[in-house]
Amino acid sequence: MKKNLGVIFGGMSTENEVSVESAKSILKNLDKDKYIIYPIFISKEGEWFKTNIEGTKQDKIENVFKYLQKLEVVFPVLHGLYGEDGTIQGVLELLKIPYVGCKVLSSCVGMDKVYTKVIFKKAGLNQAKYQYIRKYKNKYIYVDEQFNEKILELKEATEKIVENLGLPVFVKPSQSGSSVGINKAKTKEELEKYIKYAEQFDNKILVESQIVGREVECAVLGNEEVVASAIGEVKSAEDFYSYDAKYNNQESYTEIPAQLPKEISKEIRNQAIKAYKSIDGKGLSRVDFFVEEKTSKIYINEINTMPGFTNISMYPKLFQESGITYKELLNKLINLALEIR
Ligand SMILES: Nc1ncnc2c1ncn2[C@@H]1O[C@H](COP(=O)(O)OP(=O)(O)O)[C@@H](O)[C@H]1O
Ligand SMILES: [Mg+2]
Repeated sequence: MKKNLGVIFGGMSTENEVSVESAKSILKNLDKDKYIIYPIFISKEGEWFKTNIEGTKQDKIENVFKYLQKLEVVFPVLHGLYGEDGTIQGVLELLKIPYVGCKVLSSCVGMDKVYTKVIFKKAGLNQAKYQYIRKYKNKYIYVDEQFNEKILELKEATEKIVENLGLPVFVKPSQSGSSVGINKAKTKEELEKYIKYAEQFDNKILVESQIVGREVECAVLGNEEVVASAIGEVKSAEDFYSYDAKYNNQESYTEIPAQLPKEISKEIRNQAIKAYKSIDGKGLSRVDFFVEEKTSKIYINEINTMPGFTNISMYPKLFQESGITYKELLNKLINLALEIR
């Protein structure tokens, strides 16, 4: 019996276009003998459309809940807010439809860089030092390690941050993806400027010490029995892996497998699984790290619960390196979704 499979893509985040690219590859490679496929496109404005497999023809869905009810499993190929953050997962939970990937809690934690850090610390994973502030009216709430709060002017907040972290630092909207809103501040003035910039995307802002080193990524797959892939390295053409470096600069490239000593690769794989388990991950995630240049120390950076999924994206390529084809990966992910009931 073929299963009714919904593939939801697009979405209301800054990563709408990336999601469309991921979905195109997925739709092309899904096993048509196993599934009756229902492609569903969400516009940036949040309207839902039935589409054909090429994603070209669009027909507005008036009653979304009713339309979703005929689906037996869903692959939410959405990146960023309203897709990778537990919201679409919540809708599918309400409808009792199994879906690919992380459930509500892990999606939520993975999308929020501050809360990811809190959990990773609890798991004993090594990460960059950080500070956390929230925009509040014209001021900033400075939140310490025990969640004690203090209201500060921007100048006072930046003073405190620099006192604790030094410079340079990375400034990030807590809920961001594809490097949108992220900047490296080399001076106090830049720090002020980039905090103001980041607050356009989220009122929660994370500031982190810089780790000088290589950027490596590891893919994980599974529910309780989790496997980790080969390690890949990102070679950014720019000072850091900004939006531009990721999607527009042809000189950025990836190296799979990363040229790393065996023990370091092994340790990264272990930490990737630990990180995934610590947020209660299910299905899949891509876990990103730095390997510090001077010390070879491993620092965890972030976890992406719905990583880029075009056939040239890091996640599927890492598993290809480990012997799982793109098509097999799709079947495995859908089976993992159906396993959880
Ligand atoms: N602490 C850090 N030290 C050095 N580089 C960093 C640090 N944090 C982020 N970066 C750079 O910024 C990029 C984007 O940051 P990241 O936290 O991965 O955000 P996103 O979720 O948008 O991918 C990283 O790929 C890396 O190049
Ligand atoms: Mg990243």
